[in-house]
Amino acid sequence: MDLGLRDRVAIVTGASRGIGNGIAHGLAAEGCHLAICARGAEALEDAAEALRAHGVEVLALPLDLTEPDAAQTLVEATMTRFGRLDVLVNNIGGNRRKPFAETTEEDWDELLNLNVRSHFRCTRAAIPAMRATGGGSIVFITSIFGREAGGPGLSIYNTTKSALISAAKIMALELAGEGIRVNSVAPGSIRFPGGSWDRRVQQDPEGMEAFVAQHLPIGRFGTVEEVANLVTFLASPRASLITGACINVDGGQSKSLI
Ligand SMILES: NC(=O)c1ccc[n+]([C@@H]2O[C@H](COP(=O)([O-])OP(=O)(O)OC[C@H]3O[C@@H](n4cnc5c(N)ncnc54)[C@H](OP(=O)(O)O)[C@@H]3O)[C@@H](O)[C@H]2O)c1
Repeated sequence: MDLGLRDRVAIVTGASRGIGNGIAHGLAAEGCHLAICARGAEALEDAAEALRAHGVEVLALPLDLTEPDAAQTLVEATMTRFGRLDVLVNNIGGNRRKPFAETTEEDWDELLNLNVRSHFRCTRAAIPAMRATGGGSIVFITSIFGREAGGPGLSIYNTTKSALISAAKIMALELAGEGIRVNSVAPGSIRFPGGSWDRRVQQDPEGMEAFVAQHLPIGRFGTVEEVANLVTFLASPRASLITGACINVDGGQSKSLI
């Protein structure tokens, strides 16, 4: 199936490694030009070079998206370079695991800024560019723990991931008439070299074997390519009827009925 992404333009935030990098490769393999960002300039440029092997143009912008002006800089630089914006993948995010009673104002401010407000700033900056392009697709990378309880210690993570799903739904309603689709993708436990699950497997192989047996029905972690396949489809015009959805990519890990 030709996804119709050739010579379209996508921004993927946090594409120097992990899920964001996998998504960038998924889009590039379909012929989509890219603007990517991360804080670490060296890893970002290495990622850009690997992505160019797909034959697409890649703009690599070392930016910290928790800085208030970075989102506008990202979108403006993309429009200056490519003159259009078809896809925005809001991917960056982090976790701060501690009991709710021990969380501080600083914890909440930092994680709300990283996991939620940075995405909102990117999206607000992207909407006029997508309007000028004639439509677009926005995808928020959230988590199955935005749809169901992740467990003790995850109050901040759960709250921020639920907030993305909630806001994305409203954005989808507001932007549907303009040809801008907005969806959320909720990964389960995704393992890649150097990622958080990979580190946990190295540190506690037996514990993680038990975790997989108990929580992952398909008997293994997910891969970044499996997340990228879904995001690439949602980014494409082939997903023209899909907006306001939150789709799990978790091998059956989630226990939620909704
Ligand atoms: N891995 C999983 O199992 C899993 C499961 C469910 C949901 N998710 C979600 O999927 C997303 C990606 O996860 P991941 O595991 O691939 O994360 P990761 O390995 O930590 O990668 C995050 C990427 O974002 C960049 N980044 C981080 N902070 C940034 C900032 N302030 N400004 C700009 N770039 C920034 C990082 O590069 P720099 O550090 O150089 O900035 C890196 O490229 C996150 O939203 C996460 O919550 C992950």
